[in-house]
Amino acid sequence: MAQCIKSGVSNPRAIRLIALGLVWWPLATFTAQSQESVQNAAIASAHPFATEAGYEIIKKGGNAFDAAIAVAAALAVVEPYASGLGGGGLWLLHRASDGKQVMLDARETAPARAGAGLYLDEQGRVVPKASLRGPKAAAIPGVPAALEHLAKYYGKLPLAVSLAPAIGYAHSGVQVDARYIAICRRFNSQLTGSARRLFLDYGDVPRRGFILRQEALAVTLRAIAAGGSERFYQGVMAQEMVAAVQAGGGIWTLGDLRNYRVVERQPLNFAYRSLRITSAPLPSAGGLALAQSFNILARLPYTAAAPDGRAHFVIEALRRAYQDRARYLGDSDFVSVPLARLLSGEYAASQAATIDPYFATPSVEPEDEPVATNEGSNTTHYSIVDRDGNRVAATLSINTPFGSGFVAGGTGVLLNNEMDDFSAAPGVSNVYRLQSFSGNEIAPGKRPLSSMSPTFVEDERGILILGTPGGSRIISTVLLAILDYLDRPQLDLQAMLRAPRYHHQYLPDQVEIEPEGFSQDWIEKLQDRGYVVLKGGRRWGNIQAVYIDKNSRHALAVSDPRGKVGGVSDY
Ligand code: DON
Repeated sequence: MAQCIKSGVSNPRAIRLIALGLVWWPLATFTAQSQESVQNAAIASAHPFATEAGYEIIKKGGNAFDAAIAVAAALAVVEPYASGLGGGGLWLLHRASDGKQVMLDARETAPARAGAGLYLDEQGRVVPKASLRGPKAAAIPGVPAALEHLAKYYGKLPLAVSLAPAIGYAHSGVQVDARYIAICRRFNSQLTGSARRLFLDYGDVPRRGFILRQEALAVTLRAIAAGGSERFYQGVMAQEMVAAVQAGGGIWTLGDLRNYRVVERQPLNFAYRSLRITSAPLPSAGGLALAQSFNILARLPYTAAAPDGRAHFVIEALRRAYQDRARYLGDSDFVSVPLARLLSGEYAASQAATIDPYFATPSVEPEDEPVATNEGSNTTHYSIVDRDGNRVAATLSINTPFGSGFVAGGTGVLLNNEMDDFSAAPGVSNVYRLQSFSGNEIAPGKRPLSSMSPTFVEDERGILILGTPGGSRIISTVLLAILDYLDRPQLDLQAMLRAPRYHHQYLPDQVEIEPEGFSQDWIEKLQDRGYVVLKGGRRWGNIQAVYIDKNSRHALAVSDPRGKVGGVSDY
């Protein structure tokens, strides 16, 4: 059975950081449960059926954590290209009864037979697509263990009850929406073997009215409902998955599945102006990159700047945070990351001092040319609050659309290709053109560095629960949304989600912008500052947010217009 390792605040690193007074604010500031209660539960997810599954569980007496199980399992069925039992995820939790905040880390792990040379040929060159396609690209999934952990330690209802809506969807089938069809049209070539039969219409892109039935997945979900995640990680189902993976050229063993563990980690807390922000710690780079970017911005004349000047400061802060991501970050259970230094005020001040008030700072190209594959991809985020004030921000992924494209035997489980989030070789870019080095090299049992950033933001007005898919652009998307929340005198959450997005990640040294929403004048002003501005053909991200108004105690769920049915954004 998958168990948990609790690393909470008893974690020595956490205590060191508290002692340094760097990132944690005292738990005593959390309010009592009665003050946390909310007039209504609210759920924002990328699919209406998943949201409905969550509400159904709340109506049955479940709390936000039970609803989180229902939503995750339903998304696995109705949005199979984005997340699922064959993938992983990060759940940021806030428990109202005692104010506990924790990140449930169900990130996938590298199999025991994986090593630094896994995707290299005999000459030591990276084999193109080897970390993206087929079962060799799949890391050991974490979602089944997370669902059980949520039910066992945080939920009120039995796992079987919370999984019931998803089982219903998988068994009876769901009519696919325009988004599903559009994603199949764009990415169906990713699917191989039985995955083509499962997700396409006899190998063709499904049309309107197509019913997606996943009986094998229903059987797998029923087994987990009856016997817990042990039924996934051990016994016949594990044997079947391992046999299929090995037959397809993958390296999973029964021991890999048996040894998978979710980990409870202390989230990263930091402040920016009037905001208190809680976000994902390693193995996600999200919280760190957000904290570093905000720490730099706090030391620049950001608020006094004109729109192009603000963008300049944000881009330069992101450039430095992403450079550190590449240089230093990796799974902190395996490598030592200079967290205290990266989060310190002195370091932020020294970084801010390198930013020219007007001109762009060029990024230094590495010796090896980055491999730029730039495929589209998918992942999913949902946010929940219940009436007690329990909160969940969860970002789940199988990495690129339809993950590895490989379904493990007769289980109906589509496997991730999260191994691509590791560094295949020092300085070689992954699918998101993110570089990393030894901190993120492949090792048995290690978790690949992620950008997923489930986040809570709190000020005197309210509490925002948010996150998004978007690969490397997750971090900048969340950063811009938080700045917008803060900068808009009249709170307007729809406008916050509509606002056009730009992105910089150190390398490639360019500012990517969404196709609409930026004036020619703004673009030219950035070009005058020395930026290469690249207008892509597609928008990106799909923020799902819940806002709790502290005055009225009402909760509001808001969804990114980019994710609305029919819309396919980049990543
Ligand atoms: O963990 C990560 O950073 C990536 N595997 C997330 C992928 C993603 O967001 C794809 N985009 N929609």
